[in-house]
Amino acid sequence: MTSGRVLIYGSNGYTGRLIVERALERGLRPVLAGRNADEVQRQADAVGLDHRVFSLDDPSAVDAGLVGVGVVMHCAGPFARTSRPMADACLRTRVHYLDITGEIAVFEALAARDAEAKASGVMLLPGVGFDVVPSDCLAAHLARRLPTATRLSLGFQALGGLSRGTTTTMIESGGGGGMVRRGGALVPVPAAWKTRRIDFGKGPRLATTIPWGDVSTAFHSTGIGDVEVYVAVPAATRRLMIASRYVGWLLGTAAVRAFLLRAVRRRPPGPDSAARARGVSRLWGEAEAPDDRLVVSRLTGPEGYTLTALTAVAAIEKVLGGGARAGFQTPSRAFGADFVLEIDGVVREDLAPIGA
Ligand SMILES: NC(=O)c1ccc[n+]([C@@H]2O[C@H](COP(=O)([O-])OP(=O)(O)OC[C@H]3O[C@@H](n4cnc5c(N)ncnc54)[C@H](OP(=O)(O)O)[C@@H]3O)[C@@H](O)[C@H]2O)c1
Repeated sequence: MTSGRVLIYGSNGYTGRLIVERALERGLRPVLAGRNADEVQRQADAVGLDHRVFSLDDPSAVDAGLVGVGVVMHCAGPFARTSRPMADACLRTRVHYLDITGEIAVFEALAARDAEAKASGVMLLPGVGFDVVPSDCLAAHLARRLPTATRLSLGFQALGGLSRGTTTTMIESGGGGGMVRRGGALVPVPAAWKTRRIDFGKGPRLATTIPWGDVSTAFHSTGIGDVEVYVAVPAATRRLMIASRYVGWLLGTAAVRAFLLRAVRRRPPGPDSAARARGVSRLWGEAEAPDDRLVVSRLTGPEGYTLTALTAVAAIEKVLGGGARAGFQTPSRAFGADFVLEIDGVVREDLAPIGA
């Protein structure tokens, strides 16, 4: 069992709020935390929870904020800015660290701290949301079905809309093009580098490569060195992604980024509950061995932000139940390839192997 309390940092954000709601549904009493005193206090008072206010800029304040805490659920992103100071504090104070990042650079930075985390007895488990729990569990399941696999392709179709925070994170990491794994190394590629037809379960859809978190994590989970991740997008979006190859530098300019971020702040915080109830996630994965044997599996589940709240709280409960493993972990390494099947509404389907 993990002793100490659960602290949800960034609890006042769109996704943080969904995670708090889910934690309450499950009978947990997390401590709410963030840097915005008014919002965090109002949120905590409304549901009768304790709260703490501290900024990530002051290491001693973060350490003080973690006193008596056993596990942090970090929801404040973009994580390229926020993960490091929270992970530093977790390692100093020996508190397990969970987050909902989907950013490749953040996964890799935490993976590089594996030995440090093991020495402190701390689990560093990023990516306990939509990106990457279902896709990471699918990757591990495919590797289990075909242990000789050397190539892995993953794809997803997320129907339900994006939050302000996700869009901000995309803008802040924009202009960087795509990313795949080749021979175990992260290799930059142009935006929308490859396009293929993928059947997510409702007939073939055009899907194109994106630099999704699994480009990092699937390798750590499966050891498979060649990984590509695809997203189903309408043809017009794909054309925009291709155009971004030529104007991606624009996103790198402070003025354009500031303009886009101002536009995002005028939007609603994220999909409302009706949109989330209507939404659905579909995931697909294909593993291929050098002898041309191939296996395909698919998953369907709730809309992405709903799924994020469900998987994040399920991960917290695993940790509280003694399921933490010291060191850097991926969701499937920490809790097994079938972890995602414990989530209500998630169904996995295995297609017949080809070339067996
Ligand atoms: N992997 C996944 O599947 C998944 C799913 C959902 C969300 N996410 C990611 O989670 C992050 C949050 O998304 P969201 O929709 O909840 O966004 P949001 O509504 O904009 O909330 C962002 C939260 O982060 C806090 N924050 C931001 N920068 C901070 C900093 N430097 N120091 C301290 N707190 C900071 C904000 O605090 P203030 O209110 O004080 O600004 C707020 O609490 C994004 O990076 C998003 O991409 C990932």
